[in-house]
Amino acid sequence: MAIELKVNGRTYTVDTDPETSLLTVLRDHLGLTGSKYGCGEGECGACTVLIGNYSRRSCITKVGHVRNNPVTTIEGLEQNGRLHPVQQAFLDAGSFQCAYCSSGMIMTIVALLRSNPHPTTEQAAEFLQGNICRCGTHPRILQAVELAAEAMAKGGSR
Ligand code: FES
Ligand code: FES
Repeated sequence: MAIELKVNGRTYTVDTDPETSLLTVLRDHLGLTGSKYGCGEGECGACTVLIGNYSRRSCITKVGHVRNNPVTTIEGLEQNGRLHPVQQAFLDAGSFQCAYCSSGMIMTIVALLRSNPHPTTEQAAEFLQGNICRCGTHPRILQAVELAAEAMAKGGSR
């Protein structure tokens, strides 16, 4: 079945079963491999993307349910060669070791800062509860949230 999807500002038509996971379509059909397969069961957050302004687990989202809602993946955050402030904050704070969780963490934080531009550390930690980092970089991830919030307050949010 032909399914139309808007991803990172581009429209794609993919020929697949509507029950296929969005993550499979992103990675295997569109070649957008920044979203990672971790648990495949909605429990780790590695596959997180934005659907509209909301963070969603793409491994448990059926592509047929996405319809016309715009999808943003980690590949779609950079604009005109400039990293998104959350991506830049991850670099500045050194918020990764293996980085397997980073794409999902970053997408979740982008969603957080769109709904709450100045979260407290506790609020940020709570919002990120469903994103697992096996390397234990949570303290630096929370530092990145703070840096990104400051940068976005100065430079305008996106
Ligand atoms: S791979 Fe989707 S939540 Fe773990
Ligand atoms: S940096 Fe390795 S899982 Fe988070």
